[in-house]
Amino acid sequence: MNTFTTVDAVNEYRNALSGQVGCVPTMGAIHEGHVALVEQALMENDHVVVTLFVNPKQFNDPADLAGYPRRDVEDIDLLNQTGVSAVFMPTVEVMYAPDDSYLVNESCESLDRCGSARPGHFSGVLTVVMKLLNIIKPHRAYFGEKDYQQLELIRGMVTAFFMPVEVVGVPTMRAPDGLALSSRNALLGSSERALAPRLFQYLNSDDSDYLVKDQLEKAGFTVDYVQTHKNRRYGAVFLGQGSRQVRLIDNVRLTP
Ligand code: PAJ
Repeated sequence: MNTFTTVDAVNEYRNALSGQVGCVPTMGAIHEGHVALVEQALMENDHVVVTLFVNPKQFNDPADLAGYPRRDVEDIDLLNQTGVSAVFMPTVEVMYAPDDSYLVNESCESLDRCGSARPGHFSGVLTVVMKLLNIIKPHRAYFGEKDYQQLELIRGMVTAFFMPVEVVGVPTMRAPDGLALSSRNALLGSSERALAPRLFQYLNSDDSDYLVKDQLEKAGFTVDYVQTHKNRRYGAVFLGQGSRQVRLIDNVRLTP
């Protein structure tokens, strides 16, 4: 497995590849959810490039960025065992030149749900995803349904900008107790981890968004939002106190 940190080096490698190329963009702290994307990409392409980049532009809270788990050595080791061809792990300076003043902006869906709770978040996501896809030039790019709003916005961007890539959505991988796998789960204390699966459980109930929010609050979550949108219920909550607060999101398809 090759690892690259500069655009020139990964370009040279990419341009020499023949056959179909899949790309799996991640922010690292690789877990089974990421691996599900990698495995699907491996089945559908001749080469898979994983990107590891904790994108500062999508964090609206500096403490959240500072506390985001970073495990580069373990990630490379784990990815090496999956059979991916290459890992691209640029520095912030490589992705954002000091005078870079460009942002991809979506003016409707990105302002709702996670977008209203985290202003600028989706501009940061769309900007980095466009950059990464322009660098790797894959035939297919893989994103998880765990971040369903993100997946839809990326699909929309690819359509709006006529980007030559197929966006593939991959179902959410969950722990046996239903908790959606996430890099942030590593930040949960044991009592918080025990409570966390209730997010999925309550989002799945037949009750109204309002009642689900109330149930979550009574259970001990600080609720950011519970919102149904196009037959899917989205939720975002905080667990823990003060600087140790961890934000979890999930979504479920509602039966019509
Ligand atoms: P990150 O949170 O590292 O997630 C990388 C990809 O893995 C995303 O497409 C996400 O939806 C998917 N994923 C995470 N947990 C999953 C799970 N339990 N089941 C299935 N897929 C899962 O999402 C990001 O990074 C960033 O916003 C990124 C797109 C890389 C842009 O910086």
